[in-house]
This record gives sequence, C-alpha cells and structure tokens, in this order.
Amino acid sequence: MISTDTAALYTHPDRNLAMELVRATEAAAIRSAPFIGKGDKNAADGAAVDAMRAFLGTVNFDGIIVIGEGEKDEAPMLFNGERVGNGRGPACDIAVDPIDGTSLTAAGRQNALSVIAVSDRGTMLDASSVFYMDKIVTGAAGRGVVSLDQSIGDNIREYSKATGKAVGELSIAVLDRPRHEGLIDAIRSAGAGTRLLLDGDVAGGINAARYESRIDMCVGIGGSPEGITTACALKALGGFMQGRLAPGDDAERARAIDAGLDVDKLLEIDDMVSGDNTFFVTTGVTDGALVNGVRRKGPMIRTESLVLRSRTGTARRVIAEHLAEKWV
Ligand code: FBP
Repeated sequence: MISTDTAALYTHPDRNLAMELVRATEAAAIRSAPFIGKGDKNAADGAAVDAMRAFLGTVNFDGIIVIGEGEKDEAPMLFNGERVGNGRGPACDIAVDPIDGTSLTAAGRQNALSVIAVSDRGTMLDASSVFYMDKIVTGAAGRGVVSLDQSIGDNIREYSKATGKAVGELSIAVLDRPRHEGLIDAIRSAGAGTRLLLDGDVAGGINAARYESRIDMCVGIGGSPEGITTACALKALGGFMQGRLAPGDDAERARAIDAGLDVDKLLEIDDMVSGDNTFFVTTGVTDGALVNGVRRKGPMIRTESLVLRSRTGTARRVIAEHLAEKWV
C-alpha cells in the first residue's frame, strides 16, 4: 500500500510541472534544428528562445527567470528577471538555456541541449554577475571524498578508491580550453584519461553524475549559469557537485560582491539551489551521450528528452513524435 507521505508526493500541485516544461525544451530544440550545421549560432539561439518563451507562456506556473541569457536589451533572449508561465500554479525560480552549445549547433557537432531548470521561489542562487564557475561533479560516491579544495590528482586517487575503479580506467571530462592546460596535464599525470569537451559542460556534468555513464568526473571552469542548472539536475540524480565562482578580473569580483555574492565560498549543491523541489528538463538538439538530437523521420519529427524531479528522485526519458506539418 502507498504510504501517506508517498501519496502526498503525487497529489502535490506541481507534480506535472516537469512534464509541462518538457514541451518548451522540445519546441526550442525543434525550432533550432533547421539551423544545425548552418554556421549561424545566433539564428539557432534566436529560434530556440522564441519557441521556449511561447511554450513557457502556456505552462501552469508563476516563474521568474533567475538564470537567463543576460540583461534585457534588444537581442532576442529570455532575460534575467523576466516573468514566465501563465501566472497560475506554483511560484518558482527558473533557469533557462534555450541552447547549451550554440556553437556546437552552428557547427553541426554533438552534445547541444535545450535546458530548463526550476526550483521553488527564492531557492536558486543568482550568480549572474559572475560569468564563470569552477566546478567538480561526480556520482554519489564522491561525497566526502572529492573536493574543489583538493588537487585534481588527490581527487582522482580518492575517487578511484571510493568507486573501486582503477585510476587508469577513470574518464575525466573537461572543457577543451587554454585555461585548462595545466588541469589536463595534471589529470593525465595522475594516470586518468581526459574526455575533452568542445562545449557543453551541462551534459558533461550530468553524465559524470549518472549511474553507469562513461564519464566518471567533470571538472574545470565553465559558465556559472550552467553550474546552477547542473546543480538542479544533480538534486534529482543524487550525485555530488561543488562549485566556486571564478570572477575574471577585479571589476567582476567587485560587481559580484556588490550583488551580495561570496566569491571565495566553496558552494555545495544546497548553496546553489536550496530545498528539495527541483525540476530539470532537457531535450537533445544534436545527438549526444545524454540524449539523441532532433530527427526528422518521414512525416514525423522525433525528440528525446530527459526529465528529472528531485522530490521523487525520478528520471524519465521522454521520446516524442511530432507531426512535422504542425511545425511549418
Ligand atoms: P553557449 O551555448 O552559451 O555558447 O555555452 C556553451 C558552453 O560550452 C557552456 O556549456 C559552458 O559552461 C560555457 O560555454 C563555457 O564558456 P567558454 O566557451 O567561454 O569557455
């Protein structure tokens, strides 16, 4: 018999929110698909933004964008502070990334995703004044074992002991950037292998946390919005993550302090998103290890999405087939 506590999970008014939100990431992925490999990342992003905004407007919630694409200006974007949803239903904070991997999309490369993360109102850290965040993500075995305060070599050795996997078998994802040259050397000197990401450290982080994924750990400096979004996903996946804001210069550091951020603080998942009511939805734009990208199959457009809900610890894969003639 289902317990009273468990039953409460299923009668909560927001229980369908993630399944509603997935329509918005599906729409963003479908609308950006014609731009895959066409070399124009802004056109791809603009199409995704317009579709996501239109679909979010129909969802039963009262959302405020905490992590958007920047401040309101003339560019087509979902801006920080914008209200989304139809205003009915739960009051939420929302992080949007209509395409994580705009350059991947424009180039026709793998791993571009459309992403939305949602949590209760007032629970998501507004890190928008700092562009970059240093991050480490692993599966649950990393808890109490790895830390951003340890060297990467120690983290690799400790994670190897905790998981029982030989160091030489560990795969560490890191964005392929000049700023990571030293980090990449240190990973290889420790005896582990790198999985260099051209872009897209949301997919990298989630893959590191997923059970039985081919990536064991995701490290390095990536976008801070992507860090908060990843933290929302990690709450449902049960993985481990830490972050630390990484201002690029004194001016950015000063702006962050003015915004009330502690730039030196080691951020645990709960510091990035508090509470236990997060939703994370992503639809593949291009194929990747996490989800397949948008595919045209005869008269249908096929999408694949991952829908995560922290309150129940549920991960659902949603394969949808959309009649293409409805999307002309
Ligand atoms: P965009 O889709 O906005 O270009 O972001 C892609 C991305 O690779 C993120 O996944 C990552 O967090 C960030 O850019 C890294 O920034 P940078 O390219 O400046 O190193």
